Parts: sequence; C-alpha cells; structure tokens
Amino acid sequence: MAKDDSLSCYEKIGFPNSYRQNKEHLIFEDIIGKLPLLCTQNKVVLDIGCGCSELPLMLIDLCRKNEHTLILIDSEEMLSHLPNEPFIKKIIGYYPDCNDLFNKYRGEVDVILTYSVLHYIFVESNIWNFLDSSLELMSDGGEMLIGDIPNVSKRKRFFSSKNGIKFHQNFTGKEELPEVSFNNIEHHLIDDSVVLSLVTRARNQGFDAYILPQKSDLPMANRREDILIRKP
Ligand SMILES: C[S@@+](CC[C@H](N)C(=O)[O-])C[C@H]1O[C@@H](n2cnc3c(N)ncnc32)[C@H](O)[C@@H]1O
Repeated sequence: MAKDDSLSCYEKIGFPNSYRQNKEHLIFEDIIGKLPLLCTQNKVVLDIGCGCSELPLMLIDLCRKNEHTLILIDSEEMLSHLPNEPFIKKIIGYYPDCNDLFNKYRGEVDVILTYSVLHYIFVESNIWNFLDSSLELMSDGGEMLIGDIPNVSKRKRFFSSKNGIKFHQNFTGKEELPEVSFNNIEHHLIDDSVVLSLVTRARNQGFDAYILPQKSDLPMANRREDILIRKP
C-alpha cells in the first residue's frame, strides 16, 4: 500500500483519512506527554513500525531539534517516504528479527515508540518475543510506549455503555444498538488478558509498566489504550 500513489499518507499505513487527517498533531502531543525523555537532549530513540504519515515526520523534527539519534524500522516501502538525514538510521526489516540492531544497541536505547503496531505483531508473530527483545534494548532509565493498542474488551465495555450507544447512534445516524457479544473466542483480537499480561511480564522482568488511557480528543481513545514501560 505504501507504494500506491493514489493513497493518502494515512491510507498507506492502513487508516481511513478520517481517523488521522488533522489529528496526528494531537496523537503526537499525547505521545510526547508519555515519553518525557523525547524532550531532553542527545538520546537514542527507536520507532518500531514508524509508517510514513505525518507522525514520523513530527518525530524526526523533534529529534533533530533535541539532537537525538533516531532509529526507524519498517519496510523499505514505508521508509522510502521518509527523509534521509545524518541523525536518522533507517533499518529495513521485520522487528525484532534484526540482529544488527540488537548487536549494536542492546541496553542503549533511551526511548522506544511503537504506535499502532502491536496488533500486527499479535497476529503475525510472537508478542512475548517482541516485548522481551524490546526490554533488552532499553537503557537504564529508558522508556517505551506501546501505543494505540486496540483492546476488544475495552471496546465491548464502551459499546455496552450509555455513552457508547450514543456514540454509535451519532456515528451511524440510526437508532440501532451497537453489536456487542461476550463469551466468544476472539481470534486475532487483543483483549484485557493480553494487555494485562504484557504489563505483568514486563514488571516480573524488572521494569515498571502501566496501562494508560489516550487523551479523549484522539480518534480511537474509546477503544484503544497504551502501555508505558520504564526501566528503573
Ligand atoms: C498502522 S501502521 C502505524 C504506523 C505509525 N506507527 C503510525 O502510528 O502512524 C503499522 C506500521 O507497522 C509496520 N510494521 C508492522 N509490523 C512490523 C514489524 N514486525 N517490524 C517493523 N514494522 C512493522 C507496518 O509496515 C506499518 O508501517
């Protein structure tokens, strides 16, 4: 999709325009608020699955200003849309299958951002290996944001609530109730058990970990949430 010139930069990364257009600055503000090291100087920053919309461009600007080293990992198709600058290291590949990154940066990365990516890892790969490998990269005092996690349990809680029903009816323009069903096998969907287990596993491995809400002006705040991990 990243190669399809008929698509907008939001569609190239899999979002309809309405979810991202004019909203990415709000997303970026939310991210910065959760990763305060980004606003310090001279750090090593890693964006796993950076995509090619305005979000990585905002991160590039901030890293240039604060003299960070920025490592961007994604497919060649995505990375080719982003600028080349001396402080940016592009890694083409499928994280965490990138030995060079681990050989060079184990214990050296101050900030890891992976936004709207975990649900791909959940379906295609191994989230435990993804988590453990990322923890290995983190420096002492480092921070990691696993952002924009679609949590089907949170979605069900919302669409079973009065506010969720109103939201659905405003969105569809109809009086119908949103479809919500419980006690199903939910292939390929992240639920509370996954989010809570990631937090527990990070904590058991010596890291502080928290589940954080997204600011309410974010496009999917009612059904997505973030995990913040800090190495003490
Ligand atoms: C929905 S997009 C999000 C892009 C960006 N983080 C954002 O929020 O604007 C998901 C991105 O993750 C990338 N991706 C998915 N799995 C990946 C992996 N294992 N390693 C590297 N990139 C991956 C995809 O190529 C895509 O660019």
